[in-house]
Amino acid sequence: MKASTIRCLIASSLITTLGQADYRLPGGATTVFEASREAFTQPLENLDPGSLAKFFSGDTLFNTNWVSASSVVTSRDGLGPLFNTRSCSACHFKDGRGSPPATGEIPNGLLIRVSSLGEQANGAPFPHPVYGNQLSVRSLPENRPEAEVLISYEEIVDSYPDGNGFRIQKPSYSFKEYGYGPLDDFHFSPRVAPSVFGLGLLDSIPDEVLLKQSDPDDADNDGISGRPNWVWSASKTTQSLGKFGWKANKANLLDQTAAAFQGDIGITSKLFPSENHTDWQTKLVESPSGGTPEIGELDLQDVVFYLQSLAPPASRFETEADYREGYELFTQAKCASCHTPEFKTAKQALIPALSGQTIYPYTDLLLHDMGEGLADNRPDFEATGNEWRTPPLWGIGLIPEVNGHTRLLHDGRARNIEEAILWHGGEGEESKRLFTLMNEQARADLIRFVESL
Ligand code: HEC
Ligand code: HEC
Repeated sequence: MKASTIRCLIASSLITTLGQADYRLPGGATTVFEASREAFTQPLENLDPGSLAKFFSGDTLFNTNWVSASSVVTSRDGLGPLFNTRSCSACHFKDGRGSPPATGEIPNGLLIRVSSLGEQANGAPFPHPVYGNQLSVRSLPENRPEAEVLISYEEIVDSYPDGNGFRIQKPSYSFKEYGYGPLDDFHFSPRVAPSVFGLGLLDSIPDEVLLKQSDPDDADNDGISGRPNWVWSASKTTQSLGKFGWKANKANLLDQTAAAFQGDIGITSKLFPSENHTDWQTKLVESPSGGTPEIGELDLQDVVFYLQSLAPPASRFETEADYREGYELFTQAKCASCHTPEFKTAKQALIPALSGQTIYPYTDLLLHDMGEGLADNRPDFEATGNEWRTPPLWGIGLIPEVNGHTRLLHDGRARNIEEAILWHGGEGEESKRLFTLMNEQARADLIRFVESL
């Protein structure tokens, strides 16, 4: 079906339900009716028009290719000396999902977090003494990148109880061409760039509501615990509830954005004023600075505003019956125990458009033990090596349209939704079992449901 047809269908069916909480509007009144390649790039439908200039300023900065600092003065310089990519959008293309690199390609959209064993006083992973917190796979010409990343996959062939076969693939990683000496005794965690729309709404779910859903000791005995990650917030200078990142390791969008500028692009800010290399990288040639700091406070605020104001796209069910039947299968397989369908956002003084919306993100933003198969064995604040934050499922079916690939899970190993479900272990094991016990039609219907959210 063409995007325009889908849009008409959604728009016409709206007439009957306008003003009520509606599953077709994952972001309530903020929802945009866009199912094209631009589906994730739109401002909140109800955003005050006076704020659009700020939104587009953030948009430009998110898409800017930063350049190295030189004698030509520009406000968009200071790249590197070590970096992963030149822009936010190189990884979050069209505000969407990154994927693992093809063989021989330098990664865009996947990064490798590294750390030494042990943790810092504030609970953060201990940076590797030489390589810091993540591997920079690119550098300015006078320097060497930190390493090359090689990924290979082992195909696992198995079958459903009904005899139908399936294949999933398990990645393994190796690193070579170390730029700054050996990388010993370290933990690493490969992570693809998540989509960045709808984050203002997720940020507006009150902490108390999320904490009420957590059940660290599984008191209700349903096999599902759900734990908050308590992380150090650089901007608030206190322990806060972690909400963003694959392990909920960032408390808010300012922390996340400033850390991304520093860690991914080599751009310093007031919050993170030093470059992303360590004192031990002695071979490193210092390049001219792009200013102190390299991104100013107002520009940084605009990027944060942009992220807060990116709207979720409307869901794409053809009929209400499709939605209801799919939802039934979703709850039968206990997917909703972690992928919580509905929340109500709190009042937001700064961006009133986000206030009081009934939203359908399909996440509880909590950590779950997903078993050995998915483990990275790298603790991240209170998240253990087995734990991951439930990712939101809204808009997931549009990733192929927006990003031209279908890769899912934290490291992009799953080649589609079915494979992503088949990797669920630990607290998700029972859900996976219930999925595999469904007949072929029911499995297809459940996948179709997830694609339409
Ligand atoms: C090298 C690729 C890369 C670049 C460049 C990059 N990101 Fe990311 N981004 C990621 C990855 C990977 C994650 C998940 C991080 C984690 O789990 O620790 C992420 C997470 C995020 C999140 C949290 C999303 C969520 O749902 O939890 C936001 C917001 C974000 N990035 C914004 C930015 C901004 C702003 C920039 C530019 C300053 C940027 N990113 C640059 C790869 C990248
Ligand atoms: C115990 C909690 C839990 C249950 C139950 C659960 N999930 Fe998940 N789900 C997760 C977590 C955590 C991840 C991320 C794992 C990772 O990336 O390694 C995830 C990932 C996914 C993804 C990939 C999302 C993405 O953005 O890459 C899909 C699709 C998904 N789940 C669908 C389902 C479906 C369908 C069910 C029911 C059959 C289900 N899940 C049950 C916690 C759960």
